[in-house]
Amino acid sequence: MSALHHIAIFASGTGTNARAIMQHFANHMAIKVALVVTNNANAGVLNFADEFNVPTVVVSRKEMADEAYFTSVLDLYKIDFIALAGFMQLIPLYLVKKFEHRMVNIHPALLPKYGGKGMYGMYVHEAVCSARETETGITIHYVTEHYDEGAPILQKQVNVLPGETPVQVAAKVQKLEHEWYPKVIEQLLS
Ligand code: GRF
Repeated sequence: MSALHHIAIFASGTGTNARAIMQHFANHMAIKVALVVTNNANAGVLNFADEFNVPTVVVSRKEMADEAYFTSVLDLYKIDFIALAGFMQLIPLYLVKKFEHRMVNIHPALLPKYGGKGMYGMYVHEAVCSARETETGITIHYVTEHYDEGAPILQKQVNVLPGETPVQVAAKVQKLEHEWYPKVIEQLLS
């Protein structure tokens, strides 16, 4: 493994977490965001990648399932660590195995609560508010072939106040995400 770590960020949407990670590592000596992978050619994350001069690749589900093809893409950019940041596609098993303990995800709730299929974006915060939870937060965890089930690496909590709306809760959770996701990646690679 080379001294310089090469991270790929996989994202399907706006990409605010991807942006926070790219910002954090922009002038880092040992860690470089080398690639942004998306399955959505219109994803906002592509604009953030341009802003930080990070190469991008758009891959279909079929292309990602093609081990020889997709492995060659990751090898081309010397990727040795993957951070999922709102990537809305199940990771193929060959990739989970190849990047065991070198692929992480962030979830906007305290797993195992409010995780699994269909629990993404505002659905998570709506469910948290409907259940009148008094706290929620973030979970950063290793990736396995099942949604949101890998071993947790870090959880951070935030209070949910009576009457708070899902949008308000989302904003608090997003703040935690941007603060902690880059730091955890840095710790794991140090
Ligand atoms: C984040 O809430 C993350 O926890 C979840 O997907 C969302 C991505 O948001 N996995 P963004 O595109 O980074 O703004």
